[in-house]
Parts: sequence; structure tokens; C-alpha cells
Amino acid sequence: MSNQQELIEKLVEKRAAARLGGGEKRIASQHAKGKLTARERLDLLLDKGSFEEFDMFVQHRCTNFGMDKDHIDGDGVVTGCGTIDGRLVYVFAQDFTVSGGSLSKTMSEKICKVMDMAVRAGAPVIGLNDSGGARIQEGIDSLAGYGEIFERNILASGVVPQISGIFGPCAGGAVYSPALTDFTLMVKNTSYMFLTGPSVVKSVTGEDVSQEELGGASVHASKSGVAHFAAVSEQEGIETIKELLSFLPQNNREEAPAAECNDPVSRTDDELNDIVPDNPNKSYDMYRIIEGVVDNGRFFEVHKEYAKNIIVGFARMNGRSVGIVANQPKVLAGVLDINASRKASRFVRFCDAFNIPLVTLVDVPGFLCGTQQEYGAIITNGAKLLYAYGEATVPKVTVTIRKSYGGAHIVMSCKQLRGDVNYAWPTAEIAVMGAKGAVGILKDVTEEEYNDLFCNPYQAASKGYIEDIIEPRNTRFRICRALEQLSGKQQELPAKKHDNLPL
Ligand code: HXC
Repeated sequence: MSNQQELIEKLVEKRAAARLGGGEKRIASQHAKGKLTARERLDLLLDKGSFEEFDMFVQHRCTNFGMDKDHIDGDGVVTGCGTIDGRLVYVFAQDFTVSGGSLSKTMSEKICKVMDMAVRAGAPVIGLNDSGGARIQEGIDSLAGYGEIFERNILASGVVPQISGIFGPCAGGAVYSPALTDFTLMVKNTSYMFLTGPSVVKSVTGEDVSQEELGGASVHASKSGVAHFAAVSEQEGIETIKELLSFLPQNNREEAPAAECNDPVSRTDDELNDIVPDNPNKSYDMYRIIEGVVDNGRFFEVHKEYAKNIIVGFARMNGRSVGIVANQPKVLAGVLDINASRKASRFVRFCDAFNIPLVTLVDVPGFLCGTQQEYGAIITNGAKLLYAYGEATVPKVTVTIRKSYGGAHIVMSCKQLRGDVNYAWPTAEIAVMGAKGAVGILKDVTEEEYNDLFCNPYQAASKGYIEDIIEPRNTRFRICRALEQLSGKQQELPAKKHDNLPL
């Protein structure tokens, strides 16, 4: 064998060893926990044969606690780029079989490298996290590594989409990078996110809590809102990430890719003419309206289990990606509370940052009142949504279905917050408050008089606050046409260092 051939063989062997990460025993243990390895995840995520790996032979530089004798090529993270449906993405996947995927300084350098490359190339970053947090043996170096990743998350925010998949435990510093990204997906029963695990919680607060109760996917998807998606398996999680990506542009200078639309723009939906109950206190299902207007009824929901009184997610209209925000009268009568305001404002800001037009469907009786909401700062949190809509420069089409009262009317993409095209159904009630509340204060006015004057869309239409009152069955066509008219929209914000939204 020639010298060159020997060297090639050595390379092949080294590659094979690096691909095994922490070794077969630890891979088997990962599988036994119902988890895939970092490489198996990337295989599912990326188009076949598209993965270009970087830094496979990087090793940590730690010498503490005998670590100088313990080197594994790649150092616990697989990084590189590849394509998803032919579109370039940069990826990193932490390898739990190497020191529990814990973050060393060199691991952070590998992650930072792909993040820098993604921003330069204008491509999304997808991180698949499975990590015990800061690598304890490295001390402050590991913390510095986190700091460098966080700084890049911050600088890349609003420039390229950043998506985090949580595929195992994520403790300590490992949770803050996902929190800085645009979307976080968790897997039920195998992934956890918490600052400190159950044993530390027990010793500090005395609270006895399991990993699942403290930071499982269901908790973060429904209670804290930290997770936007909770998948039942890693495979489902990866499919969700791929579908999410299909609605997003590569970066903030581009538009999301258009899909072929085989659902006629002029398709009417007669059932929508009957969906709003005669009794204003009765609810109906806003999902039915969303499905009635978007292409092929396909709605990709974000934050499905969290603050269900507002619905947010992506869909296509005439093949173009749109962000849908809609009050849900079936839950808490569609009222805006702290969580709903936070959920929707983050979504609106994401869409605005990435040139995705907003379609808002309104049926909101107002803000939720009471001490719990006031003490929790509904004022500041409600203002977030107000701010997000008012700041957004993407095309904004709003359809008022039924109630649109008071402050909540203003917040939900009204004309004065630079709503571009505002329509109302004949069932719309655009007023300061509902009739019952109003006559309680005005006394010499009857409910009937109040309803006649205000609880309809004609007052707003007479003042030009809405562009038109439309027949419900035509809503799809009217929104699609409005979006088409707005496709060349240009709007600037005043020059500033950055805004100071009410955090
Ligand atoms: C070094 C670690 C590690 C860590 C795990 N390992 N976490 N090595 N640093 N942070 C190693 C283990 O020693 C073990 O090595 C292997 O990874 C697998 O770990 P196990 O404990 O056997 O696995 P499991 O039972 O599944 O438990 C996983 C875990 C647990 C829940 C993540 O390991 C754990 O609680 N780790 C510590 C979590 C934590 O407190 N992190 C916070 C760090 S401080 P061997 O060789 O046996 O395979 C932090 C602050 C940053 O992150 C703040 C920035 C803002």
C-alpha cells in the first residue's frame, strides 16, 4: 500500500471513529431512552446526501480533572450545512454521547462558526439541542462559550430565522440560546428545559417535582409558552421543523418561497354566511373561518396549546406565506389577556421581521380585567401587542368578524395602527364597549338604541375606519386580492438605534 493510500485509510478510520461520538455503548443507551443520536437526527432533517460537515476533528482543550486524556473528535456537537427541500440551512446537533452534550469552549466555537456562516450566507440556523449545560470541568471557559453563542443569537435575530429543537435534557445555560431563537420545539417525554433540575429545586425551595412537571414539553407548550411546538416523537418534531421552514424566507431581505396554488382564489365558502350565532354570547369556532379562507384549508399553528384564546400560525393565500392572528371566541370568549398578548405580539414581530404579511381575524370582547391581570401587568403586556402591530410594516389585512370593543379593537390591527386594508363582516360590532356595559353607565340610553348606533360596522365604515363591509362567503377572495394589491408595499420607520418596546 502506498503512503498516500495509508493516509487515506487513516482518514477513513478517523472519520468512522468520530461518527461514533461517545461510542457504541453510549449510543445504545441513547436509543434505550427512546432518543436518536445527533447524526440520526441530522439524517432525518436534511435532504439526502446534502450534509456538509465542518470541524469533525475538533477537540476540546481542557486539562482539568484528567480531561487531557479524554479526547473525542468533534467534541460533542455535529455542525455543518445542508439543504431542506433544496434550501440551504446551517445546523448543529449536540451529541449527548459525548460528555452529555455539555458545552465546552471548543463546542461553542463550532456552533458560533456555523451561526456566523449562516448570517453571511443569509440562511436559517437550526440547532438540535441535547445537553447537560455548561461542561463542568471547563469552568468559566464554558460560560464564555455560552456568552459567545448568545451574542450571535442576538445579532442574528431578525436577520435569519433561528429554530431550536429540544431533543433531550437542556439544563442551565443550554436553555437560554433556544429562548433567544425564534421558535422552540420540544419532544414529549424525552426532552426537558429548566434552569436547575429537580434535585437543586428540592434543596433550594423544598419543592418536590419531577423533570416532566418542572420542564417537560407539555409544561412549556401549555403553561410557560417557552415551547412553540410539542411533538410526540423526534421524527414528528423534525417534520414539524421542516414544515415550519417552508413558510419562512431564508433571511430578512427575502420573501418566503411561493408555493403553487391549486385552490381557486375566488373559491367562496357559503357556510361562513351562517357561522356567527344570533346570540352575541354564543361562541363559534374561529378555526372554521381560518380553514375556510386559507389555501386548501391548511393551517400550520404555532403555540397551539398556549393561550388558546388567541390563535397564531402560518398559512398560504394564493400560494404566498401569511401569518394569521385570530381571536378564538370558544376560549374565554376570545378576550385578550397577558398570555394571549405576549403570544400574539411575538408572532406579529416575527412575521414583520421576515416580510410575512399579516392577516388578522377579529372577534374580541376586550381585555380581561381583574386583579390577577392587573398585578401581572396586563397594561405592559397588552401594550406589547399594540406596539407590535403599530410597528409592523408588512402588509396588514384585517377582517372584523364580530366583536371589536374598546382597547382591544385598537390593538387588533385597526386602521390607525397602519392597518392597510380593514374589512368587516355585516355581523361586526365596532364600539367602545358592548351594549350591556354601556347602558349601565349611560342610564338614559336603551340597549336597543345603543345597538342600533354602535353595534354594527356602519359607523366605522362611514368614517373610513374600514375599507368595506364584505359578505362572509367572499372573505378568501377579498383577502387574497388585498394581499395582491399590497405586494409592493413599502413603508419605513423613523431612524432610531432601536425601539424600546414595553418588555
Ligand atoms: C460535564 C456532564 C454534564 C455537564 C452531564 N455530563 N452533564 N459532563 N458537564 N454539565 C456527563 C455525565 O457525567 C455523564 O458522563 C454523561 O454526561 C451522561 O450524563 P448522565 O447524568 O449519566 O445522564 P442522565 O442520567 O440522562 O442525566 C442527564 C442530565 C444530568 C439530566 C443532563 O447529567 C445532569 O443533571 N447534568 C447536569 C445538569 C446541570 O446542572 N447543568 C448546569 C450546568 S451550569 P459519562 O462519562 O458517565 O457518560 C450551566 C450554567 C450556564 O449550564 C449558565 C449560562 C447562562
